[in-house]
Amino acid sequence: MNNFVSPCVDDTAPAELLKRGERLLEPDVYRTCLNGQPAVVKDYTRYRGTPLSLLARLLVRREARILQRLSGWKHAPALLGTIGGLALGMEFIPGQTLSAAQSVGVEVFEQLQYALSRLHAAGITHNDLHGTNVMVSGGVPVLVDFTSAWRSPRWLPVHPVSRQLRRSDMKNLLKMRQRLTGLKPTPSQAALVADPRWVASLRVGWKRFYRWFKSA
Ligand SMILES: Nc1ncnc2c1ncn2[C@@H]1O[C@H](COP(=O)(O)OP(=O)(O)OP(=O)(O)O)[C@@H](O)[C@H]1O
Ligand SMILES: [Mg+2]
Repeated sequence: MNNFVSPCVDDTAPAELLKRGERLLEPDVYRTCLNGQPAVVKDYTRYRGTPLSLLARLLVRREARILQRLSGWKHAPALLGTIGGLALGMEFIPGQTLSAAQSVGVEVFEQLQYALSRLHAAGITHNDLHGTNVMVSGGVPVLVDFTSAWRSPRWLPVHPVSRQLRRSDMKNLLKMRQRLTGLKPTPSQAALVADPRWVASLRVGWKRFYRWFKSA
């Protein structure tokens, strides 16, 4: 990465909390030092010994697998390893999140769009693309938080659900771009991310059910 990262020589130095996990199955996220390398740890150890620990382990394993797949790619942090099954260590990406960045150029979004197309071509959808899950480091967008990511098995032909997840990633990217640069989607981009009829009906059906459920 291009940004300067202060060296870290002492693995026992106190960690800096980046985000406290408050909701269900949300990890504590902190910055620390792993084997002398600046690292970020997503930590679910508060679930140890509880019935949710199995799920937490699964989340760690899934995110680690995806990061492993993306190893060497400049748009994702390198995996440093898992710790005791309930925590995941990855490369610390210096910079700011897209949400916090003061000004974000259109070039960042061009790179992000290209990165997303490569991710999708590898059969992976991110599924939680928003401003705090994209770091901008030396002008390069880096995707973080692959907890909700999904990788379709290679043998599976592109499924309508995968197609919908890709569309949804792209929709989120275009929303962020419009919010941060004022650039609206072109008519072809808007057509590309428009929901097909079955998704629109599903959405309407779900909203009706939810309203009924709340009033019942
Ligand atoms: N590799 C990294 N390098 C630098 N900062 C990071 C890294 N990974 C995560 N962060 C920071 O920590 C924050 C929380 O991490 P992450 O999004 O993975 O956790 P989360 O609990 O899944 O968050 P949320 O549910 O709010 O999306 C990120 O928004 C980002 O600011
Ligand atoms: Mg996140």
